[in-house]
Amino acid sequence: MLLSVPPFAAGPGEQEVERLICASVVSDNTSVYDQMEQIRDASMRHNPPLGLHAVLLYQSGWFVYWAEGPGSALRALLERVRRDDRHEAQRVVHHSRGKRFLSTPWSMMMSRSHDTPAEFGLRVTAIRQMMEQGRQFAPTSVIRRLSAPMRLPAARHLPDPEAFHRVGVCGVANEAFDLVAWLGAQQGQPLAHRRFAGEVDLDSGSDYVEFMQDGHPCRVIAISRHGLLHGLRRAFLPDWPLLLLVMSGQPKRDDALMDRVRDACQGLPCCPALLGIAPDTETHARMASRSRSEGLHYLHGAPIASHDCGAIWHEAREQLKRLGAPASSIWPMTEPLLAA
Ligand SMILES: Cc1cc2nc3c(=O)[nH]c(=O)nc-3n(C[C@H](O)[C@H](O)[C@H](O)COP(=O)(O)O)c2cc1C
Repeated sequence: MLLSVPPFAAGPGEQEVERLICASVVSDNTSVYDQMEQIRDASMRHNPPLGLHAVLLYQSGWFVYWAEGPGSALRALLERVRRDDRHEAQRVVHHSRGKRFLSTPWSMMMSRSHDTPAEFGLRVTAIRQMMEQGRQFAPTSVIRRLSAPMRLPAARHLPDPEAFHRVGVCGVANEAFDLVAWLGAQQGQPLAHRRFAGEVDLDSGSDYVEFMQDGHPCRVIAISRHGLLHGLRRAFLPDWPLLLLVMSGQPKRDDALMDRVRDACQGLPCCPALLGIAPDTETHARMASRSRSEGLHYLHGAPIASHDCGAIWHEAREQLKRLGAPASSIWPMTEPLLAA
């Protein structure tokens, strides 16, 4: 299911938070990872007691900073961050109120990209201009538009650049990365690579590949089991209609994967349907029953071996056909802009 019903108000008994995304130019591009670690240390000291959760991204000489929390604490934080001389020219590119999307106090992502700072800046300006004209997008959409815009030439002229299929893949071992590498080779498309880190040691990679599938742009994203629990990753799960789970047929390992999926989906506004890939019907039956008891939707076809990338993708493709055209992710503006 896609985040098409903005802006996801807090439910009864849930705390309402403000969500804010800012982009800023990094002052000194040497040792950026060290700077991010220092910012992480300060954030882990200050943010959790105030109910503030945040994500920091670095790409092409820019920081993108997504923070959520109670309004007054968030505004005070923003004021402090704005005075930080590690960055400049900070601009707000998303502001909304509602349910919390960031489930962990801190996560960060570093992405090596060939884009120049000026090219990245053009994307920031475009989003900011649309915001000023009364159009803004889901926080995840803003992050994607800035850090991972759809690059396929065939998708460039479509009316909504964010309306593409997003399919996550996670396996008990390396199956997800093998599938994405196989798809890249099949489709003649390059892989994109990202590195994530969490509060302390949640360091994990993620690869994705893009190609046209049955007339629609499609992105397939490999994540590690470990990466499923990363705060930034969890925030993106509601945007994925399908999460492929590649299982081994060994109950202990498959159950451990399902435990991670359950934990990752906990408290999200909506969860992807799980497309189970398993070598036997017993595994499907057990996982379908586990998913039911966790309130998750489990789909599956005939048994498939975990290394049979062709058969796995065939299964996923059939499900995508059933889902139809990918939905848009535009949010209407519901509030005045922050003065920034
Ligand atoms: C892009 C960016 C985001 C930041 N995010 C936070 C944050 O979420 N929480 C925080 O306490 N400090 C954050 N900082 C660091 C603050 O600007 C400031 O240096 C820090 O809070 C000072 O903490 P200290 O007084 O304990 O040293 C951020 C800095 C930058 C450049």
